Amino acid sequence: MAFSVHSLLISDSVDASCKKILEENGINVVEKKNMTKDELLVEIKDYNGLIIRSGTKVTADVINAAKNLKIIGRAGTGVDNVDIDASTRNGIIVMNTPNGNTISAAELTCGMIMCLARKIPQGAASMKAGNWERKKFMGMELYGKTLGIVGLGRIGKEVATRMQSFGMKTIGYDPIIPAEVASTFGVEFVSLEQLWPQSDFITVHTPLMPSTEGLLNDETFAKCKKGVKVINCARGGIIDEEALLRALESGQCDGAGLDVFVEEPPKNLCLVNHPNVIACPHLGASTCEAQERCGKDIAAQIVDMVKGSSLVGAINAQALRCAVFPETKPWIQLGEALGMVAKAFTGQVNGQTKVHVATAGMSLRNTEHCVASAVTLGLLKGDLENQVNLINASLLAKEAGLTVVAKHDDAVPGDPTNVCALEISTSSASHKFLGSIQIDLPVLLEVDGAAFKQAVPLSGNLLIYKAEAYSQALQSVAGVLASAGIQIESYNVTTAVEGHQWCIMRITSLLVDLNLLEHYVKVSMQLTI
Ligand code: NAD
Ligand code: MLT
Repeated sequence: MAFSVHSLLISDSVDASCKKILEENGINVVEKKNMTKDELLVEIKDYNGLIIRSGTKVTADVINAAKNLKIIGRAGTGVDNVDIDASTRNGIIVMNTPNGNTISAAELTCGMIMCLARKIPQGAASMKAGNWERKKFMGMELYGKTLGIVGLGRIGKEVATRMQSFGMKTIGYDPIIPAEVASTFGVEFVSLEQLWPQSDFITVHTPLMPSTEGLLNDETFAKCKKGVKVINCARGGIIDEEALLRALESGQCDGAGLDVFVEEPPKNLCLVNHPNVIACPHLGASTCEAQERCGKDIAAQIVDMVKGSSLVGAINAQALRCAVFPETKPWIQLGEALGMVAKAFTGQVNGQTKVHVATAGMSLRNTEHCVASAVTLGLLKGDLENQVNLINASLLAKEAGLTVVAKHDDAVPGDPTNVCALEISTSSASHKFLGSIQIDLPVLLEVDGAAFKQAVPLSGNLLIYKAEAYSQALQSVAGVLASAGIQIESYNVTTAVEGHQWCIMRITSLLVDLNLLEHYVKVSMQLTI
Protein backbone atom coordinates (compact mmCIF):
# COMPACT_ATOMS: atom_id res chain seq x y z
CA MET A 1 0.00 0.00 0.00
CA ALA A 2 1.72 3.17 -1.17
CA PHE A 3 1.46 6.34 0.89
CA SER A 4 2.90 9.14 -1.15
CA VAL A 5 3.60 12.38 0.67
CA HIS A 6 4.64 15.24 -1.62
CA SER A 7 3.65 18.27 0.42
CA LEU A 8 3.76 18.67 4.17
CA LEU A 9 2.74 21.39 6.59
CA ILE A 10 4.56 21.99 9.88
CA SER A 11 2.13 24.00 12.01
CA ASP A 12 3.96 24.14 15.36
CA SER A 13 7.50 24.94 16.42
CA VAL A 14 9.54 21.87 15.44
CA ASP A 15 13.34 21.50 15.28
CA ALA A 16 14.86 22.64 11.97
CA SER A 17 16.36 19.17 11.37
CA CYS A 18 12.83 17.90 10.68
CA LYS A 19 12.29 20.14 7.62
CA LYS A 20 15.81 19.41 6.39
CA ILE A 21 15.37 15.62 6.45
CA LEU A 22 11.98 15.79 4.73
CA GLU A 23 13.26 18.12 1.99
CA GLU A 24 16.34 15.98 1.42
CA ASN A 25 13.90 13.17 0.70
CA GLY A 26 11.93 15.11 -1.88
CA ILE A 27 9.02 16.30 0.31
CA ASN A 28 7.99 19.95 -0.07
CA VAL A 29 7.67 21.48 3.39
CA VAL A 30 5.81 24.63 4.39
CA GLU A 31 6.10 26.00 7.94
CA LYS A 32 3.18 28.09 9.20
CA LYS A 33 2.88 28.54 12.93
CA ASN A 34 0.21 30.09 15.15
CA MET A 35 -2.58 29.77 12.58
CA THR A 36 -6.13 30.34 13.74
CA LYS A 37 -8.54 27.43 13.36
CA ASP A 38 -10.13 29.10 10.31
CA GLU A 39 -6.73 29.62 8.69
CA LEU A 40 -5.82 25.98 9.33
CA LEU A 41 -9.13 24.78 7.83
CA VAL A 42 -8.27 26.55 4.58
CA GLU A 43 -4.53 25.79 4.57
CA ILE A 44 -4.74 22.05 5.34
CA LYS A 45 -6.50 21.19 2.04
CA ASP A 46 -3.26 21.38 0.09
CA TYR A 47 -1.14 18.91 2.06
CA ASN A 48 -0.54 15.14 2.25
CA GLY A 49 1.26 15.45 5.59
CA LEU A 50 0.94 17.51 8.76
CA ILE A 51 3.51 17.74 11.57
CA ILE A 52 2.45 19.20 14.90
CA ARG A 53 3.40 19.47 18.55
CA SER A 54 0.78 20.12 21.21
CA GLY A 55 -0.24 23.58 19.93
CA THR A 56 -2.25 22.59 16.85
CA LYS A 57 -5.64 21.07 17.66
CA VAL A 58 -6.40 18.55 14.93
CA THR A 59 -10.13 18.23 15.48
CA ALA A 60 -12.63 16.27 13.35
CA ASP A 61 -13.53 19.37 11.28
CA VAL A 62 -9.84 19.96 10.48
CA ILE A 63 -9.52 16.29 9.44
CA ASN A 64 -12.67 16.43 7.30
CA ALA A 65 -11.34 19.55 5.57
CA ALA A 66 -8.00 17.82 4.90
CA LYS A 67 -9.05 16.08 1.70
CA ASN A 68 -5.51 15.11 0.67
CA LEU A 69 -4.06 14.31 4.10
CA LYS A 70 -2.39 10.90 4.52
CA ILE A 71 -0.39 11.35 7.72
CA ILE A 72 -0.39 13.37 10.92
CA GLY A 73 2.99 13.27 12.65
CA ARG A 74 3.25 14.35 16.27
CA ALA A 75 6.77 15.47 17.19
CA GLY A 76 6.32 14.32 20.78
CA THR A 77 4.36 11.85 22.84
CA GLY A 78 0.77 12.90 23.63
CA VAL A 79 -1.73 12.69 20.79
CA ASP A 80 -4.63 14.04 22.82
CA ASN A 81 -4.73 17.09 20.52
CA VAL A 82 -5.56 14.81 17.56
CA ASP A 83 -8.98 13.26 16.93
CA ILE A 84 -7.73 9.70 16.39
CA ASP A 85 -11.19 8.29 15.56
CA ALA A 86 -11.79 10.87 12.85
CA SER A 87 -8.28 10.28 11.47
CA THR A 88 -8.84 6.52 11.34
CA ARG A 89 -12.26 6.92 9.70
CA ASN A 90 -10.64 9.09 7.04
CA GLY A 91 -7.81 6.61 6.50
CA ILE A 92 -5.15 8.97 7.89
CA ILE A 93 -2.18 7.55 9.81
CA VAL A 94 -1.40 9.17 13.16
CA MET A 95 2.19 8.77 14.28
CA ASN A 96 4.13 10.01 17.32
CA THR A 97 7.71 9.92 18.59
CA PRO A 98 7.19 8.41 22.03
CA ASN A 99 10.84 8.15 23.08
CA GLY A 100 12.33 11.47 21.99
CA ASN A 101 11.40 13.56 25.01
CA THR A 102 11.24 10.94 27.78
CA ILE A 103 14.49 12.00 29.45
CA SER A 104 13.67 15.71 29.26
CA ALA A 105 10.21 15.23 30.78
CA ALA A 106 11.65 12.97 33.48
CA GLU A 107 14.39 15.50 34.32
CA LEU A 108 11.85 18.34 34.58
CA THR A 109 9.80 16.19 36.96
CA CYS A 110 12.87 15.55 39.11
CA GLY A 111 13.58 19.29 39.05
CA MET A 112 10.04 19.97 40.25
CA ILE A 113 10.45 17.47 43.11
CA MET A 114 13.69 19.18 44.22
CA CYS A 115 12.16 22.64 43.91
CA LEU A 116 9.14 21.61 45.95
CA ALA A 117 11.41 20.16 48.67
CA ARG A 118 13.70 23.20 48.84
CA LYS A 119 11.45 26.04 47.57
CA ILE A 120 14.18 27.08 45.12
CA PRO A 121 11.95 29.16 42.78
CA GLN A 122 10.37 30.99 45.74
CA GLY A 123 13.80 31.67 47.29
CA ALA A 124 15.17 32.94 43.99
CA ALA A 125 12.16 35.21 43.41
CA SER A 126 12.48 36.60 46.93
CA MET A 127 16.14 37.47 46.41
CA LYS A 128 15.39 39.14 43.08
CA ALA A 129 12.85 41.24 45.00
CA GLY A 130 15.74 42.41 47.23
CA ASN A 131 14.95 40.19 50.26
CA TRP A 132 17.08 37.86 52.40
CA GLU A 133 14.50 35.46 53.94
CA ARG A 134 16.29 32.36 55.26
CA LYS A 135 13.60 31.19 57.71
CA LYS A 136 10.71 31.53 55.27
CA PHE A 137 12.12 29.00 52.86
CA MET A 138 12.86 26.17 55.28
CA GLY A 139 12.72 22.97 53.24
CA MET A 140 12.89 19.22 53.63
CA GLU A 141 15.36 16.51 52.58
CA LEU A 142 14.34 14.02 49.93
CA TYR A 143 16.50 11.36 51.59
CA GLY A 144 14.30 8.73 53.22
CA LYS A 145 11.06 10.16 51.80
CA THR A 146 8.59 8.16 49.72
CA LEU A 147 7.80 9.05 46.12
CA GLY A 148 4.51 7.64 44.77
CA ILE A 149 4.57 7.27 40.98
CA VAL A 150 1.26 6.88 39.17
CA GLY A 151 2.05 5.47 35.71
CA LEU A 152 5.22 3.38 35.34
CA GLY A 153 5.72 3.78 31.59
CA ARG A 154 8.69 5.46 29.94
CA ILE A 155 8.78 8.68 32.00
CA GLY A 156 7.58 7.18 35.29
CA LYS A 157 10.43 4.66 35.16
CA GLU A 158 13.10 7.31 34.43
CA VAL A 159 11.83 9.49 37.28
CA ALA A 160 11.99 6.51 39.65
CA THR A 161 15.60 5.59 38.90
CA ARG A 162 16.75 9.21 39.17
CA MET A 163 15.02 9.91 42.47
CA GLN A 164 16.35 6.66 43.98
CA SER A 165 19.81 8.23 43.80
CA PHE A 166 18.56 10.84 46.31
CA GLY A 167 17.72 8.02 48.71
CA MET A 168 13.97 8.21 48.06
CA LYS A 169 11.84 5.09 48.41
CA THR A 170 9.89 4.70 45.17
CA ILE A 171 6.47 3.05 45.13
CA GLY A 172 4.17 2.99 42.12
CA TYR A 173 1.07 1.78 40.36
CA ASP A 174 0.30 1.03 36.71
CA PRO A 175 -2.51 -1.17 35.36
CA ILE A 176 -0.34 -2.85 32.72
CA ILE A 177 3.15 -2.97 34.22
CA PRO A 178 3.50 -6.15 36.33
CA ALA A 179 4.94 -5.88 39.87
CA GLU A 180 7.96 -8.00 38.85
CA VAL A 181 8.79 -5.56 36.04
CA ALA A 182 8.42 -2.54 38.37
CA SER A 183 10.79 -4.18 40.85
CA THR A 184 13.49 -4.43 38.14
CA PHE A 185 13.74 -0.62 38.23
CA GLY A 186 13.45 -0.36 41.98
CA VAL A 187 9.76 0.47 42.30
CA GLU A 188 7.67 -1.35 44.87
CA PHE A 189 4.34 -2.04 43.19
CA VAL A 190 1.35 -0.97 45.30
CA SER A 191 -2.35 -0.33 44.72
CA LEU A 192 -3.51 3.29 44.46
CA GLU A 193 -5.25 2.83 47.82
CA GLN A 194 -1.83 2.00 49.33
CA LEU A 195 0.01 4.69 47.36
CA TRP A 196 -2.04 7.69 48.57
CA PRO A 197 -1.36 7.40 52.35
CA GLN A 198 2.28 6.24 52.03
CA SER A 199 3.63 8.97 49.72
CA ASP A 200 5.36 12.20 50.71
CA PHE A 201 5.47 13.20 47.02
CA ILE A 202 3.11 11.96 44.29
CA THR A 203 3.95 12.35 40.61
CA VAL A 204 1.60 11.38 37.78
CA HIS A 205 2.85 9.99 34.44
CA THR A 206 -0.21 8.64 32.65
CA PRO A 207 -1.98 9.78 29.51
CA LEU A 208 -5.14 11.86 30.05
CA MET A 209 -8.12 9.61 29.45
CA PRO A 210 -11.44 9.00 31.19
CA SER A 211 -9.84 6.59 33.68
CA THR A 212 -7.08 9.05 34.65
CA GLU A 213 -8.98 12.35 34.56
CA GLY A 214 -9.20 13.67 38.12
CA LEU A 215 -7.20 10.73 39.57
CA LEU A 216 -6.25 13.11 42.35
CA ASN A 217 -9.52 14.65 43.50
CA ASP A 218 -11.11 15.71 46.81
CA GLU A 219 -11.60 12.10 47.84
CA THR A 220 -8.09 10.89 47.01
CA PHE A 221 -6.40 14.02 48.42
CA ALA A 222 -8.19 13.22 51.69
CA LYS A 223 -6.52 9.76 51.68
CA CYS A 224 -3.04 11.30 51.26
CA LYS A 225 -0.56 12.21 54.01
CA LYS A 226 -1.19 15.72 55.33
CA GLY A 227 1.25 18.04 53.56
CA VAL A 228 1.72 15.78 50.51
CA LYS A 229 3.46 17.41 47.54
CA VAL A 230 2.18 16.62 44.04
CA ILE A 231 3.68 16.95 40.58
CA ASN A 232 1.96 16.89 37.19
CA CYS A 233 4.31 16.96 34.20
CA ALA A 234 2.00 14.68 32.19
CA ARG A 235 -1.34 16.19 31.18
CA GLY A 236 -3.56 18.89 32.67
CA GLY A 237 -6.60 17.40 34.41
CA ILE A 238 -5.03 14.21 35.80
CA ILE A 239 -4.89 16.19 39.04
CA ASP A 240 -8.26 17.93 39.40
CA GLU A 241 -7.32 21.62 39.43
CA GLU A 242 -10.13 22.81 41.72
CA ALA A 243 -9.55 19.96 44.18
CA LEU A 244 -5.83 20.81 44.19
CA LEU A 245 -6.55 24.44 45.03
CA ARG A 246 -8.81 23.36 47.89
CA ALA A 247 -6.13 20.94 49.17
CA LEU A 248 -3.46 23.67 48.99
CA GLU A 249 -5.68 26.11 50.85
CA SER A 250 -6.50 23.61 53.60
CA GLY A 251 -2.85 22.54 53.94
CA GLN A 252 -3.70 18.93 53.04
CA CYS A 253 -1.37 19.52 50.08
CA ASP A 254 1.78 21.47 50.86
CA GLY A 255 2.96 22.16 47.33
CA ALA A 256 2.42 21.41 43.66
CA GLY A 257 4.72 21.37 40.64
CA LEU A 258 2.64 21.88 37.51
CA ASP A 259 3.93 21.85 33.94
CA VAL A 260 0.55 21.19 32.33
CA PHE A 261 -2.94 22.62 32.65
CA VAL A 262 -6.48 21.78 31.58
CA GLU A 263 -6.46 24.98 29.55
CA GLU A 264 -3.13 26.05 28.03
CA PRO A 265 -2.29 28.82 28.60
CA PRO A 266 -4.51 28.86 31.70
CA LYS A 267 -6.92 31.80 31.96
CA ASN A 268 -7.69 31.10 35.59
CA LEU A 269 -4.41 31.88 37.40
CA CYS A 270 -5.45 30.91 40.95
CA LEU A 271 -3.17 27.86 40.95
CA VAL A 272 -0.29 29.54 39.12
CA ASN A 273 -0.32 32.43 41.61
CA HIS A 274 -0.56 30.23 44.72
CA PRO A 275 2.66 30.68 46.78
CA ASN A 276 3.17 26.92 47.11
CA VAL A 277 2.78 26.21 43.41
CA ILE A 278 5.66 26.02 40.96
CA ALA A 279 4.27 26.44 37.47
CA CYS A 280 5.92 26.07 34.07
CA PRO A 281 4.42 26.74 30.64
CA HIS A 282 4.46 23.08 29.40
CA LEU A 283 8.25 22.85 29.31
CA GLY A 284 8.66 19.07 29.76
CA ALA A 285 9.95 18.52 26.24
CA SER A 286 11.49 21.96 25.82
CA THR A 287 15.16 21.05 25.62
CA CYS A 288 17.36 21.30 22.56
CA GLU A 289 18.08 17.57 22.81
CA ALA A 290 14.45 16.47 23.02
CA GLN A 291 13.35 18.80 20.24
CA GLU A 292 16.13 17.64 17.97
CA ARG A 293 15.34 13.99 18.71
CA CYS A 294 11.58 14.41 18.17
CA GLY A 295 12.06 16.51 15.01
CA LYS A 296 14.52 14.02 13.51
CA ASP A 297 12.47 11.00 14.60
CA ILE A 298 9.18 12.19 13.10
CA ALA A 299 10.85 13.17 9.82
CA ALA A 300 12.71 9.84 9.56
CA GLN A 301 9.55 7.89 10.42
CA ILE A 302 7.59 9.65 7.68
CA VAL A 303 10.37 9.15 5.12
CA ASP A 304 10.59 5.43 6.00
CA MET A 305 6.83 5.08 5.72
CA VAL A 306 6.78 6.73 2.28
CA LYS A 307 9.61 4.42 1.15
CA GLY A 308 7.66 1.46 2.57
CA SER A 309 10.70 0.34 4.54
CA SER A 310 9.19 0.54 8.04
CA LEU A 311 6.27 1.89 9.97
CA VAL A 312 7.40 3.13 13.37
CA GLY A 313 5.30 5.11 15.83
CA ALA A 314 1.96 4.61 14.05
CA ILE A 315 -0.86 4.69 16.56
CA ASN A 316 -3.84 3.70 14.42
CA ALA A 317 -2.48 1.49 11.65
CA GLN A 318 -2.03 -2.02 13.01
CA ALA A 319 -2.86 -3.68 9.67
CA LEU A 320 -0.53 -1.39 7.79
CA ARG A 321 2.30 -2.37 10.12
CA CYS A 322 2.18 -5.95 8.72
CA ALA A 323 2.14 -4.61 5.18
CA VAL A 324 5.65 -3.17 5.44
CA PHE A 325 7.37 -6.40 6.51
CA PRO A 326 8.69 -8.24 3.43
CA GLU A 327 7.54 -11.58 4.88
CA THR A 328 3.94 -10.48 5.55
CA LYS A 329 3.43 -7.97 2.72
CA PRO A 330 2.42 -10.64 0.15
CA TRP A 331 -0.15 -12.03 2.61
CA ILE A 332 -1.73 -8.61 2.92
CA GLN A 333 -1.88 -8.47 -0.89
CA LEU A 334 -3.44 -11.96 -0.89
CA GLY A 335 -6.06 -10.90 1.68
CA GLU A 336 -7.01 -7.86 -0.38
CA ALA A 337 -7.15 -9.91 -3.60
CA LEU A 338 -9.29 -12.63 -1.96
CA GLY A 339 -11.63 -9.93 -0.65
CA MET A 340 -11.98 -8.52 -4.19
CA VAL A 341 -12.69 -11.99 -5.61
CA ALA A 342 -15.25 -12.65 -2.87
CA LYS A 343 -16.90 -9.29 -3.62
CA ALA A 344 -17.12 -10.24 -7.31
CA PHE A 345 -18.94 -13.45 -6.27
CA THR A 346 -21.37 -11.91 -3.76
CA GLY A 347 -21.98 -8.39 -5.08
CA GLN A 348 -23.01 -5.81 -2.44
CA VAL A 349 -21.75 -6.51 1.09
CA ASN A 350 -23.91 -5.33 3.99
CA GLY A 351 -25.10 -6.05 7.53
CA GLN A 352 -26.08 -9.59 6.54
CA THR A 353 -22.59 -10.40 5.26
CA LYS A 354 -20.49 -12.67 7.45
CA VAL A 355 -16.82 -13.24 6.71
CA HIS A 356 -14.45 -15.79 8.24
CA VAL A 357 -10.75 -15.45 7.56
CA ALA A 358 -8.55 -18.34 8.66
CA THR A 359 -4.80 -18.35 8.26
CA ALA A 360 -2.75 -21.52 8.72
CA GLY A 361 0.99 -22.00 9.02
CA MET A 362 3.77 -20.82 11.30
CA SER A 363 4.80 -18.02 8.96
CA LEU A 364 1.35 -16.43 9.35
CA ARG A 365 1.30 -16.44 13.13
CA ASN A 366 -0.04 -13.15 14.57
CA THR A 367 -1.00 -11.81 11.15
CA GLU A 368 -4.61 -13.03 11.02
CA HIS A 369 -6.09 -9.67 12.01
CA CYS A 370 -3.95 -7.83 9.46
CA VAL A 371 -4.93 -10.31 6.75
CA ALA A 372 -8.60 -9.98 7.80
CA SER A 373 -8.33 -6.17 7.50
CA ALA A 374 -6.88 -6.64 4.02
CA VAL A 375 -9.79 -8.96 3.09
CA THR A 376 -12.18 -6.29 4.37
CA LEU A 377 -10.39 -3.69 2.28
CA GLY A 378 -10.83 -5.86 -0.81
CA LEU A 379 -14.52 -6.35 -0.02
CA LEU A 380 -15.23 -2.65 0.49
CA LYS A 381 -13.02 -1.30 -2.29
CA GLY A 382 -15.59 -1.40 -5.08
CA ASP A 383 -18.23 0.42 -3.04
CA LEU A 384 -16.09 3.07 -1.40
CA GLU A 385 -13.38 3.48 -4.04
CA ASN A 386 -10.68 5.84 -2.81
CA GLN A 387 -12.16 6.36 0.63
CA VAL A 388 -11.09 2.98 1.97
CA ASN A 389 -7.61 1.80 2.88
CA LEU A 390 -5.94 -0.53 5.37
CA ILE A 391 -6.27 2.05 8.14
CA ASN A 392 -10.03 2.50 8.03
CA ALA A 393 -11.21 -0.79 6.45
CA SER A 394 -12.07 -2.54 9.74
CA LEU A 395 -13.80 0.52 11.17
CA LEU A 396 -15.86 1.10 7.99
CA ALA A 397 -16.76 -2.61 7.86
CA LYS A 398 -17.92 -2.47 11.46
CA GLU A 399 -20.01 0.61 10.72
CA ALA A 400 -21.55 -1.17 7.71
CA GLY A 401 -22.54 -4.02 10.06
CA LEU A 402 -20.23 -6.53 8.38
CA THR A 403 -19.11 -9.37 10.66
CA VAL A 404 -15.47 -10.30 10.10
CA VAL A 405 -13.97 -13.08 12.23
CA ALA A 406 -10.26 -13.92 12.05
CA LYS A 407 -8.56 -17.06 13.32
CA HIS A 408 -5.18 -18.68 13.01
CA ASP A 409 -3.76 -22.19 13.39
CA ASP A 410 -0.03 -22.83 13.24
CA ALA A 411 -0.67 -26.23 11.64
CA VAL A 412 -3.67 -28.52 11.51
CA PRO A 413 -2.62 -32.12 10.83
CA GLY A 414 -3.79 -33.13 7.36
CA ASP A 415 -4.72 -29.54 6.35
CA PRO A 416 -2.65 -27.41 3.99
CA THR A 417 -0.35 -24.89 5.70
CA ASN A 418 0.74 -21.41 4.69
CA VAL A 419 -2.70 -20.72 3.28
CA CYS A 420 -5.48 -18.25 3.85
CA ALA A 421 -9.07 -19.51 3.73
CA LEU A 422 -11.93 -17.08 3.26
CA GLU A 423 -15.57 -17.97 3.77
CA ILE A 424 -18.22 -15.42 2.98
CA SER A 425 -21.96 -15.71 3.39
CA THR A 426 -24.69 -13.23 2.51
CA SER A 427 -28.47 -13.58 2.77
CA SER A 428 -28.51 -15.30 -0.65
CA ALA A 429 -25.21 -17.14 -1.15
CA SER A 430 -22.07 -18.45 0.47
CA HIS A 431 -18.65 -19.16 -1.01
CA LYS A 432 -15.27 -20.43 0.08
CA PHE A 433 -11.86 -19.50 -1.28
CA LEU A 434 -8.42 -20.83 -0.50
CA GLY A 435 -5.36 -18.79 -1.39
CA SER A 436 -1.64 -18.83 -0.84
CA ILE A 437 1.60 -17.16 -1.90
CA GLN A 438 3.85 -18.52 -4.64
CA ILE A 439 7.11 -16.71 -5.40
CA ASP A 440 5.84 -13.70 -3.44
CA LEU A 441 2.63 -13.47 -5.49
CA PRO A 442 -0.93 -14.11 -4.27
CA VAL A 443 -2.56 -17.13 -5.89
CA LEU A 444 -5.98 -18.77 -5.70
CA LEU A 445 -5.96 -22.51 -5.01
CA GLU A 446 -9.64 -23.40 -4.58
CA VAL A 447 -13.15 -22.05 -5.05
CA ASP A 448 -16.06 -23.66 -3.18
CA GLY A 449 -14.03 -26.80 -2.51
CA ALA A 450 -12.98 -27.25 -6.16
CA ALA A 451 -9.19 -27.16 -6.56
CA PHE A 452 -7.54 -25.46 -9.53
CA LYS A 453 -5.25 -27.77 -11.43
CA GLN A 454 -2.64 -24.99 -11.28
CA ALA A 455 -2.55 -22.10 -8.80
CA VAL A 456 -4.14 -18.96 -10.31
CA PRO A 457 -2.12 -15.73 -9.95
CA LEU A 458 -4.46 -13.05 -8.57
CA SER A 459 -3.55 -10.06 -10.69
CA GLY A 460 -4.70 -8.31 -13.84
CA ASN A 461 -8.12 -8.52 -15.52
CA LEU A 462 -9.78 -11.76 -14.45
CA LEU A 463 -12.85 -13.36 -15.99
CA ILE A 464 -14.31 -16.01 -13.69
CA TYR A 465 -17.12 -18.37 -14.71
CA LYS A 466 -18.72 -21.65 -13.78
CA ALA A 467 -19.77 -23.98 -16.56
CA GLU A 468 -20.82 -27.56 -17.08
CA ALA A 469 -17.81 -29.84 -16.83
CA TYR A 470 -16.26 -30.87 -20.13
CA SER A 471 -18.73 -28.73 -22.15
CA GLN A 472 -17.94 -26.47 -25.13
CA ALA A 473 -18.04 -23.41 -22.83
CA LEU A 474 -14.34 -22.63 -23.29
CA GLN A 475 -14.61 -22.36 -27.09
CA SER A 476 -17.80 -20.26 -26.84
CA VAL A 477 -16.33 -17.86 -24.23
CA ALA A 478 -13.11 -17.59 -26.27
CA GLY A 479 -15.24 -16.74 -29.33
CA VAL A 480 -17.11 -13.96 -27.48
CA LEU A 481 -13.84 -12.52 -26.22
CA ALA A 482 -12.21 -12.70 -29.66
CA SER A 483 -15.20 -10.86 -31.20
CA ALA A 484 -14.69 -8.13 -28.61
CA GLY A 485 -10.97 -7.95 -29.49
CA ILE A 486 -9.93 -9.37 -26.10
CA GLN A 487 -7.07 -11.85 -25.84
CA ILE A 488 -6.76 -14.65 -23.29
CA GLU A 489 -3.43 -14.47 -21.45
CA SER A 490 -3.93 -17.52 -19.25
CA TYR A 491 -6.61 -20.07 -18.48
CA ASN A 492 -7.10 -22.13 -15.33
CA VAL A 493 -9.78 -24.64 -14.46
CA THR A 494 -10.76 -26.58 -11.33
CA THR A 495 -11.54 -30.23 -10.98
CA ALA A 496 -15.23 -30.99 -11.62
CA VAL A 497 -17.52 -30.84 -8.59
CA GLU A 498 -21.14 -31.92 -9.01
CA GLY A 499 -20.76 -31.76 -12.76
CA HIS A 500 -19.40 -28.20 -12.89
CA GLN A 501 -16.00 -26.54 -13.10
CA TRP A 502 -14.83 -23.04 -12.19
CA CYS A 503 -12.63 -21.35 -14.80
CA ILE A 504 -10.50 -18.25 -14.46
CA MET A 505 -9.09 -16.46 -17.49
CA ARG A 506 -6.64 -13.60 -17.37
CA ILE A 507 -7.69 -11.34 -20.24
CA THR A 508 -6.26 -8.21 -21.84
CA SER A 509 -9.30 -6.08 -20.94
CA LEU A 510 -12.68 -6.57 -19.30
CA LEU A 511 -15.76 -7.39 -21.38
CA VAL A 512 -18.06 -4.41 -21.75
CA ASP A 513 -21.16 -6.64 -21.61
CA LEU A 514 -20.87 -9.76 -19.45
CA ASN A 515 -24.38 -10.82 -20.51
CA LEU A 516 -22.85 -12.02 -23.82
CA LEU A 517 -21.70 -15.12 -21.90
CA GLU A 518 -25.03 -16.05 -20.36
CA HIS A 519 -25.92 -18.74 -22.95
CA TYR A 520 -22.66 -20.61 -22.38
CA VAL A 521 -21.93 -20.45 -18.64
CA LYS A 522 -23.87 -20.85 -15.41
CA VAL A 523 -22.47 -17.75 -13.67
CA SER A 524 -19.79 -15.27 -14.62
CA MET A 525 -18.06 -12.28 -13.13
CA GLN A 526 -15.02 -10.18 -13.86
CA LEU A 527 -12.70 -7.92 -11.91
CA THR A 528 -9.36 -6.16 -12.09
CA ILE A 529 -6.87 -6.76 -9.30
P1 NAD B 1 3.84 5.80 28.50
O1 NAD B 1 2.75 5.37 27.58
O2 NAD B 1 5.18 5.23 28.33
O3 NAD B 1 3.37 5.52 30.00
C1 NAD B 1 2.10 5.82 30.47
C2 NAD B 1 1.74 4.77 31.51
O4 NAD B 1 0.55 5.17 32.16
C3 NAD B 1 1.48 3.40 30.88
O5 NAD B 1 2.36 2.44 31.39
C4 NAD B 1 0.05 3.12 31.27
O6 NAD B 1 -0.21 1.77 31.54
C5 NAD B 1 -0.09 3.97 32.52
N1 NAD B 1 -1.47 4.19 32.93
C6 NAD B 1 -2.57 4.27 32.13
N2 NAD B 1 -3.66 4.41 32.91
C7 NAD B 1 -3.24 4.43 34.20
C8 NAD B 1 -3.91 4.55 35.44
N3 NAD B 1 -5.22 4.69 35.52
N4 NAD B 1 -3.16 4.52 36.56
C9 NAD B 1 -1.82 4.38 36.49
N5 NAD B 1 -1.14 4.25 35.34
C10 NAD B 1 -1.84 4.29 34.20
O7 NAD B 1 3.86 7.38 28.42
P2 NAD B 1 5.07 8.34 28.78
O8 NAD B 1 5.90 8.55 27.57
O9 NAD B 1 5.69 7.89 30.04
O10 NAD B 1 4.27 9.72 29.01
C11 NAD B 1 3.50 9.91 30.17
C12 NAD B 1 2.71 11.21 30.07
O11 NAD B 1 3.59 12.32 29.96
C13 NAD B 1 1.79 11.32 28.86
O12 NAD B 1 0.60 11.93 29.26
C14 NAD B 1 2.54 12.24 27.92
O13 NAD B 1 1.69 12.90 27.03
C15 NAD B 1 3.15 13.18 28.91
N6 NAD B 1 4.31 13.95 28.43
C16 NAD B 1 4.39 15.24 28.82
C17 NAD B 1 5.48 15.99 28.44
C18 NAD B 1 5.56 17.43 28.81
O14 NAD B 1 6.05 18.23 28.02
N7 NAD B 1 5.13 17.82 29.99
C19 NAD B 1 6.49 15.41 27.65
C20 NAD B 1 6.39 14.07 27.30
C21 NAD B 1 5.29 13.33 27.71
C1 MLT C 1 4.46 15.53 24.65
O1 MLT C 1 3.41 14.90 24.87
O2 MLT C 1 5.34 15.09 23.89
C2 MLT C 1 4.67 16.80 25.36
O3 MLT C 1 3.52 17.33 25.84
C3 MLT C 1 5.62 17.75 24.74
C4 MLT C 1 5.18 18.57 23.57
O4 MLT C 1 4.07 19.06 23.54
O5 MLT C 1 5.95 18.72 22.65
